[in-house]
Amino acid sequence: MSALLQAATLKTPVINPSLLAADFAHLERDIKRLEEAGAQVLHLDIMDGHFVPNLSFGVPVVEAIRRCTDLPLDVHLMLSEPQKYLAPFRKAGADFLSIHIEVASEPRPLFDEICRLGAVPGLVLNPPTPVESVLPFLNDCDLILTMSVMPGFGGQAFDPVALEKIRRIRATVRELGRENMLISVDGGVGLDTIADCAAAGANLFVTGSALLGAPNLQARFEELTVQAGVGNSGKLFTDIKHKI
Ligand code: DX5
Ligand code: ZN
Repeated sequence: MSALLQAATLKTPVINPSLLAADFAHLERDIKRLEEAGAQVLHLDIMDGHFVPNLSFGVPVVEAIRRCTDLPLDVHLMLSEPQKYLAPFRKAGADFLSIHIEVASEPRPLFDEICRLGAVPGLVLNPPTPVESVLPFLNDCDLILTMSVMPGFGGQAFDPVALEKIRRIRATVRELGRENMLISVDGGVGLDTIADCAAAGANLFVTGSALLGAPNLQARFEELTVQAGVGNSGKLFTDIKHKI
């Protein structure tokens, strides 16, 4: 099965491990451990030192990760100029490409480009950004990522401002008849916060330090999945309408 087709059939709730919390000297080992724990997708954080005050990794590392795994790669672009990098990241193996509304107030041309490249378009909003800024675009992308920390660093505390936004996004996709859309949350998601995110309506949970920092990764993956089951019914996600 292609990674993109796998991306269309994620079984929710989906734990989405952020490799930012992996051991970069042993990325392949950590990816295998995540696969064995049951990961269906991997979250890759791309930072430019401009949109966010940090750098992470770029195209060559995504390409190297692609060679280690067949899992879909969910690439979170924390970039001031994402339009310049869509094609290189897709070529490197990205299956989802998510851009921030803060740098693309009219994101539809970028979604069109992402679809043209054969990837799945996503839209991200930061904690201070009003949810109203993304609601007009819920029919134009397949993934909405609500930040529950200011992006740039792993290991920060969850900001509950995300919960009301997730509820609004969930209510709006229901009105649009797109209930199987991926509603993701990113930042400080762990055992204490994941059930609240699920109850608010999220079904894709980015987890960095809470997962990869655990003493037993397999056990923590299962614990997080159980907690995320609160408010989720284990539906199959098959509603990537812009691709496949
Ligand atoms: C933050 C990134 C996150 C980060 C999450 O800028 O977008 O994906 O890796 O890490 P935790 O789960 O540790 O908050
Ligand atoms: Zn992220």
